[in-house]
Amino acid sequence: MENSIEALRAEFINEIKAVDSLNDLEQLKVKYLGKKGPIQNLMKELKDVPQEKRPECGKFINDLKVYLSSQIETLEISLTESEEKKQLENEKIDISLPGKKRFVARKHLISQVLDDLLNIFKEMGFSVQYGPDMDTDYYNFEALNFSSDHPARDMQDTFYISSNMLLRTHTSNIQARIMETEKPPIRIVAPGRAYRNETITTRSHVFFHQIEGFFVDKQVTFADLRATMDEFLAKFFGPDVETRFRPSYFPFVEPGLELDIGCISCKRAGCQLCKQTGWLEILGAGMIHPEVLKNGDIDPEIYSGYAFGMGIERIVMLKYGIKDIRLFTENDLRFLQQF
Ligand code: PHE
Repeated sequence: MENSIEALRAEFINEIKAVDSLNDLEQLKVKYLGKKGPIQNLMKELKDVPQEKRPECGKFINDLKVYLSSQIETLEISLTESEEKKQLENEKIDISLPGKKRFVARKHLISQVLDDLLNIFKEMGFSVQYGPDMDTDYYNFEALNFSSDHPARDMQDTFYISSNMLLRTHTSNIQARIMETEKPPIRIVAPGRAYRNETITTRSHVFFHQIEGFFVDKQVTFADLRATMDEFLAKFFGPDVETRFRPSYFPFVEPGLELDIGCISCKRAGCQLCKQTGWLEILGAGMIHPEVLKNGDIDPEIYSGYAFGMGIERIVMLKYGIKDIRLFTENDLRFLQQF
């Protein structure tokens, strides 16, 4: 019996040397000290030992049991410590590491400028309204006094969805719609996309953004239009901006005009940007045609109004010196992140 006790001790010492995790240690503990383990077996065998040797053997077994337990306990403490240490090591935060750069989204340049422009008009008492990108021939053309043979109605200029539905060629459809539903005074700006069947080049695209604006009330005159445009342009381009009204034609205004500003690059000396003219065209405008008011159920004998419409891409290109309109839709971050 003594021999097998010593053999068991040696075997245990050998095995515990290889243990390097709490898991393995637990298994070792069960194996040696468990109910079906060798210690229990020895205890059972004790009854076959001659009476006089029994107390001595019992003591040996007990000593072995105490020895194994204390060895296991000691190792358990040190393994727990080192595993905790390892875990802390893993969770350690190195505050000297450089941070990961987060990608912060921002507004597209077109949206930024749209917001700026709308804010100027809001300060001047205009409210913002929207209308559909896809509309009927009536609101895009007919209500706005386009004759049935007007060239803009040609398939070459307009994206038709069916014979009667199209992608609006300008935001003036919103003007036609609002006049039908609201009563004067009406003072509205309406931003949105417009679509034209054009060849895509550095200067033109098949869709772009516009802001439409109009004011209808009693005694609205050309002087109101002029003052409003001057104030708006001074706020957007700076107080020194020069303006010029030039006669032009749009079926829905009479008189119609185009509004130029003194070239912001050469201050009217003549340069490439203004093609040596000293002036840059900014928007179309005019006094709302009596026919258009009538189509909106507004009596032109009592009311008058002005309207204007501007292309946002063009204004942004002028202000920021951008030479290719396609950059706005290519989503190249190298371009977008500059603004
Ligand atoms: N709708 C015109 C365009 O797209 C602009 C405009 C609007 C002109 C309102 C006059 C009055 O070119």
